Amino acid sequence: MLSIAFTNLKPGTGKTTTSVLLAYALHTRGHDVALADCDPAGSALAWSDAVGGFPFSVYGLAVKDAGKRLSGIGGDKTIVVCDLPQAEDHGAIVRSVLRRVDEITIPVAPTTIEIERTSGITDLLDEIAEVRESPARIAILLNRVVAGARSGFDARSALTELGYEVLRPQIPRREVYALAFGAVPDIRPGDPIDILAAEYLARAGR
Ligand SMILES: Nc1ncnc2c1ncn2[C@@H]1O[C@H](COP(=O)(O)OP(=O)(O)OP(=O)(O)O)[C@@H](O)[C@H]1O
Ligand SMILES: [Mg+2]
Repeated sequence: MLSIAFTNLKPGTGKTTTSVLLAYALHTRGHDVALADCDPAGSALAWSDAVGGFPFSVYGLAVKDAGKRLSGIGGDKTIVVCDLPQAEDHGAIVRSVLRRVDEITIPVAPTTIEIERTSGITDLLDEIAEVRESPARIAILLNRVVAGARSGFDARSALTELGYEVLRPQIPRREVYALAFGAVPDIRPGDPIDILAAEYLARAGR
């Protein structure tokens, strides 16, 4: 099993959008995917309902022992994508999942305010590292990057200097992502989300 969780201290950074689109991209590539909606707000579940169900399993796991339950929702080859709530309000759920997943991804927009806010997540990750059996692969995903602007480039350097690994693929700011919620995504080979899916598979050696 490969497990990937999207987390941030703050709401509205693109966790749900990226989780759902990534699950679709992995499914489109032929992988066995399960999506765990660990957010009490239930946005991923609501999105699934809005389209008459996703073509992969979706689990409501907004419980304090969500992390423990992840191993029960798929087989050896399943890729579990976890949409987490904002850690500042739902610390217990977030800690439980971050203790156990293989990949921890922090979506961050290339703005000064979002880059500065990552210091809070670093404290949480340090705390998690002490209770994990083995280290997670931890990286920032630049999301809402304006094409052709300097901000993405500058954010990548600033975050790297702060000591983060920044995933090579990045997600552009696009109308199609802003309007993605509640609709069936159309993901083509070579789309940014498909490139992101390939990156996770490569990082897992798959
Ligand atoms: N790459 C993008 N381009 C344009 N809009 C985006 C992009 N990613 C996310 N958004 C928009 O940003 C908003 C927040 O995204 P999303 O709901 O995925 O964040 P979240 O971190 O799950 O928020 P919450 O903590 O409230 O659950 C949404 O309106 C979404 O459509
Ligand atoms: Mg969300």
